Amino acid sequence: MSLLLRPAFASPQLHLRVAAKLHSARSCSTFNVTGYMPEAAAFPGVRDYPGLRDLSVQHPERFWGILGRERLAWITPFHTVSDCDLTQGRVRWFEGGQLNVSVNCIDRHVHMSPDKVALIWERDEPGAHVKITYRQLLEVTCRLANTLKRQGVRKGDRVVIYMPASPIAVASMLACARIGAVHTVVFAGFSAEALANRIQDAQSETVITTNQALRGGRVIELKKTVDQAVKLCPSIKRVLIAMRTENKVPMSNIDIPLEEEMMKEEAVCDPVAMESEDMLFLLYTSGSTGKPKGVVHTQAGYLLYTSLTHKYVFDYHDGDVFGCVADIGWITGHSYVVYGPLCNGGTTVLFESTPVYPNPGRYWETVERLKINHFYCAPTAIRLLLKYGDTWVKSHDRSSLKTLGTVGEPINSEAWNWYYKVVGDGRCPVLDTWWQTETGGICISPHPAGRDAKIVPAMAMRPFFGIDPVLVDDQGRRLEGNKVSGSLCIAKPWPGMARTIYNDHDRFVDTYFKAYPNHFFTGDGAHRSEEGYYQIIGRLDDVINISGHRLGTAEIEGAVNQHQVVAESAAIGCAHEVKGEGSYVFIVLKDGINISEDTIDKELKDIVSQKIAKYAAPDHIQIVKRLPKTRSGKIMRRVLRKIVENKIDELGDLTTLDDHVAVEEIVAGREKILEKEAKN
Ligand code: WTA
Repeated sequence: MSLLLRPAFASPQLHLRVAAKLHSARSCSTFNVTGYMPEAAAFPGVRDYPGLRDLSVQHPERFWGILGRERLAWITPFHTVSDCDLTQGRVRWFEGGQLNVSVNCIDRHVHMSPDKVALIWERDEPGAHVKITYRQLLEVTCRLANTLKRQGVRKGDRVVIYMPASPIAVASMLACARIGAVHTVVFAGFSAEALANRIQDAQSETVITTNQALRGGRVIELKKTVDQAVKLCPSIKRVLIAMRTENKVPMSNIDIPLEEEMMKEEAVCDPVAMESEDMLFLLYTSGSTGKPKGVVHTQAGYLLYTSLTHKYVFDYHDGDVFGCVADIGWITGHSYVVYGPLCNGGTTVLFESTPVYPNPGRYWETVERLKINHFYCAPTAIRLLLKYGDTWVKSHDRSSLKTLGTVGEPINSEAWNWYYKVVGDGRCPVLDTWWQTETGGICISPHPAGRDAKIVPAMAMRPFFGIDPVLVDDQGRRLEGNKVSGSLCIAKPWPGMARTIYNDHDRFVDTYFKAYPNHFFTGDGAHRSEEGYYQIIGRLDDVINISGHRLGTAEIEGAVNQHQVVAESAAIGCAHEVKGEGSYVFIVLKDGINISEDTIDKELKDIVSQKIAKYAAPDHIQIVKRLPKTRSGKIMRRVLRKIVENKIDELGDLTTLDDHVAVEEIVAGREKILEKEAKN
């Protein structure tokens, strides 16, 4: 990282209104509302957490207006706190205001404490971390922003970032924000085709990538994948390549060596004044159809919401080291590796490796070496690590830890208890945080009620400030009282919520606002306990959650159906001990095809890896003669699910089933598979 050598100086323009309230830490061992949230001083009469929460829901304009003014540095103050109409999917916050997200995340901290560490890059190579101060981050970001400008990237242009977690990747995101370009980070595990689909949908002209990547000691040919994708994308005019390894890769006439160009640029770049509702980024996520959707987040509301949740859910204090090990290709990486912590002037860890490289003690060795105070990961990693036993944890000093969090999928009690007792030594609150790409930040979590609040294991529990969860039944009726289960909706808009689906506002309205008018529909089911706490049950649509990564069953089917021998398929989610959910795919072969089970198994896994990503490869494939369908031709997935779960007695109402023999055949086939698995 030769780029990080020269000091940078903030340009005079950056002084803006940075008068920067860098929110200094205040202790909140006893619940004192203004000690807990300094801005609460502006709410006379509010004395405790429930009071603050009630105010945030009953008077959102007041609550968010004050926080928006206090917590963000504005170039021009906003004149309207919110203008939302959920029936139309219209969500607008802080209009009239202008700001720059990169200034909020870097410059104002450079102004206050330039040598504070912003990023700790935990490289794949064990023990080889790199620290980057706010001053260095500003320099790299400005040089990168100037490079993008020189290459012709303009405000509003979409820039695809296809890189693993690294300072240069974070600087790429912030450089886009600085010049008003819209980034779309694509998880560096996605295949060339999946990358190409996203480039095409975003109509992007620019990709930023690395020559190679390193993961778990293996070299990944990232640039090669980009080359394949770019062949399918005539819109691409330039590919900027950073060097993660020393190895040279073939360069074409659209390829630009990123670091070389950056060194020619000034270390100062004036930030563009962005409207609150200008786009900040697109992030593609799976829905129930085969086509991933580009979820759009905008500037001010998203930034305020991620910074506020980062501070109050984790009880983040100035000087703490925040260790969220998510990849930057997912929303968790956006909100809690990059934007939330940096907006708060925090120190954030960029984890490039895997939980088991070079051994299953990697996370805890990293906690010890970097003195991580808050650790945030997916339940799947906890389930994986607990299998290796306690010694890998206990051989490392974890006394720095204060808070433990999980996200992305339900956490089972065994994993929760192990995380709490073994990793946290029974000292640290474990927070099961529920949220989505579409919500921008954490919506339901045991905190924000302060460190002393009761936590029920494996339960997301309490809504965050401004979040008004409701449960609704199939008829769209709101379920009152406790001990009820239903579709989880959110009744009021909040600043962090998605604004639209890129180039498809109708799909945005249809997906989130049609099922329950005037409510945001999450797609998840939830239970409200006797005590009024929320427990997330899982997806209600055809989205499965593999190791905390969303995947539409239609996407898997789309890939499987491209195999020349497959006539049709049906994919469903199935329980998986480590991944939480895996996928089980039923296929019908075309007439006259004779292929061995092992061959088709391997070929279909390959095709899904190639079309989507390795993590999407099906866990089980069953060849069937026909699929169970209704008389109108709809696949009865409910029946398939029960067969896979081996709950033949619970197949339910089969009166609409077209052909009963189909079910009998599938049950017999499933029994054979179970027998075979038992023998192995
Ligand atoms: C699921 C990840 C249970 C849920 C931030 C949601 C969870 C989807 C939890 C969003 C949790 C997330 N308990 N389920 N604590 N957190 N989910 O968009 O089904 O990748 O709808 O965002 O993950 O996944 P996404």
